[in-house]
Amino acid sequence: MIDIHAHILPDIDDGPKDWVESEALCCAMVSDGITDVIATPHQLGRFGNESCQPIRQKVDELNQKLKDSSVALTVHAGAEVRLDERIESLLDEEKILTLAGSKYLLLELLPEIALDITPLIGRLLSREIIPIIAHVERYPYYINSSKSPDVLSEAGAYFQVTASSLVGTFGSSVQAVAWHFLRDGNVAVVASDAHDTDYRNPQMTRAYEMIQHNMGVELADILCCQNPRCILNSEPLITPDQTFSSTANTFFS
Ligand SMILES: [Fe+2]
Repeated sequence: MIDIHAHILPDIDDGPKDWVESEALCCAMVSDGITDVIATPHQLGRFGNESCQPIRQKVDELNQKLKDSSVALTVHAGAEVRLDERIESLLDEEKILTLAGSKYLLLELLPEIALDITPLIGRLLSREIIPIIAHVERYPYYINSSKSPDVLSEAGAYFQVTASSLVGTFGSSVQAVAWHFLRDGNVAVVASDAHDTDYRNPQMTRAYEMIQHNMGVELADILCCQNPRCILNSEPLITPDQTFSSTANTFFS
């Protein structure tokens, strides 16, 4: 599997504190069946990181350490970019990163308020940047059903759901919303959003097995393998069609 969203770089956000923790998380990813990971430290928001250079530098250093330790994981540079009015100008200035240099931008919405970002989505698409909404199942306004993210997908954004949400790590409400979005055919990619080897560990294999069990191996492959590879290669994503919805196990309704 390829993981397009993970916090694996040391001392840059709320992920690993140092190289020891960073390498331990990389080993956990290999054990979880991941061959390639896009490092996506937070950019903008409370962590700042308004520069690409430290991220690229740490990715290069981590790849060298993994090679020296014979850990079979390739790390690519990316970011989880918090919604900010400066996103377009920072893209122009090359201060924020897309996913592995592709046309896909991992965009984290504000947890407190559901802003109408359809104009921003349109402007990003017009410059051939395709937003992927990070962990769409974890925003409070989507969990309590006061808002629907459908308007974002209709505007051209894709959705990422987090593996551990499907497994149940964040509780039954988040789990139910995550499976609801999957059944609706609205999710393009599953990623770990791993931060550590404990509570926020990768969980990709368990999520893959649950999707396979509930909705079939074809969808599990699209969400955990094929679309992540498309993102890595900057290719068009496969859109899960509604046939998966009709075959979905209703256990998580
Ligand atoms: Fe994240």
